[in-house]
Amino acid sequence: MKKSRITGIGHYVPENVVTNADLEKIMDTTNDWIVERTGIEARRWFNPDKDTVSNMATRATKMAADRAGIEIKDIEFIVFATITPDYFFPGSGVLLQRELGLQGIGALDIRNACSGFIYALSVADQFIKTGMYKTVLVVGAEIQSSALDKSTEGRSSSVIFADGAGAAILQATDEDRGVLSTHLHADGDYAEELYVHDPGSSRKTRLSKDMLDGKTFNLTMNGNTVFKHAVVRFSEVINEALQENGHVTEDIDLLIPHQANLRISNFVQRQFKLPDDKVFNNIMHYGNTTAASIPIAMSEAWEKGKIKEGDLICLAAFGSGFTWASSLIRW
Ligand code: ACO
Repeated sequence: MKKSRITGIGHYVPENVVTNADLEKIMDTTNDWIVERTGIEARRWFNPDKDTVSNMATRATKMAADRAGIEIKDIEFIVFATITPDYFFPGSGVLLQRELGLQGIGALDIRNACSGFIYALSVADQFIKTGMYKTVLVVGAEIQSSALDKSTEGRSSSVIFADGAGAAILQATDEDRGVLSTHLHADGDYAEELYVHDPGSSRKTRLSKDMLDGKTFNLTMNGNTVFKHAVVRFSEVINEALQENGHVTEDIDLLIPHQANLRISNFVQRQFKLPDDKVFNNIMHYGNTTAASIPIAMSEAWEKGKIKEGDLICLAAFGSGFTWASSLIRW
């Protein structure tokens, strides 16, 4: 059976840098609080005149395709992970397909929040393993900043979330490397611990004055519950990936956790006793970009020479749903 390999990875983040000092001007917060609780020093928020989820994904895709040494027309299928699509429907996959000039190929949207990129990778991996496609584009892209309550009331979430896009070209290989396994989990009992309530379909009207007054279209998070579950699930799912492939922690060359919060990453790092150079974090500069965080981090890690041929890379994520997932990759 074929395996799938990431042959190119790219990213795009909006030009607009929002520092903690900028947030101090619009809400009652401090740089010290944000850095101590989240590790974030700055994040990118989109420019509504310039950035959309699909055009950020297009830019990330072009970088990934260049690095893979393929032409855009070689892409046979798109898997697009986002919970912040440009439209309520259709999904962002078809918009990206149109922007890439790939009309006719299939495009699938995945709505699994912070675990979305690994879910998308897993779907693409199965298509390649079964021989259905040879080259699949896997994307994670988000604009979270337009669903944040940027007043003091919403400060515990709005200092965390941000915008950006990452893309990976996944290709079939006969070599004994690439995606070794993916592991996907969910527990819908916790759906409302981290969510955006409106607009939803099961209401009398999709938009109402009550929703606007109640700000129920903004992201809502129970930070403490998320933290407690995240640290347990991250560990479980990393262990699952290692065990499935007969590996131990020491075999990991680089862990790329979803960039949820630096405290969560540091906690996981301590649990696995991994040295600093084996865990990649860039949340300090970009905040939490949900489904985009892993491909953005992978792309930066690759640029910095931290991912090399033959390395064992572990991806792990936890997020809204709750969902959690991991993948072990022999690069
Ligand atoms: N600036 C200053 N003060 C703040 C801010 C802020 N931005 N936000 C909250 N506070 C205040 C609160 O009002 C509260 O004040 P009080 O004690 O006077 O009432 C105090 O800080 C503590 O508030 P908590 O909400 O309990 O803050 P906590 O210490 O739990 O930190 C945080 C919040 C950072 C979200 C924390 O719960 C956390 O790390 N959660 C993990 C979840 C997470 O990171 N989610 C994001 C990613 S989700 C995902 O990707 C999986």
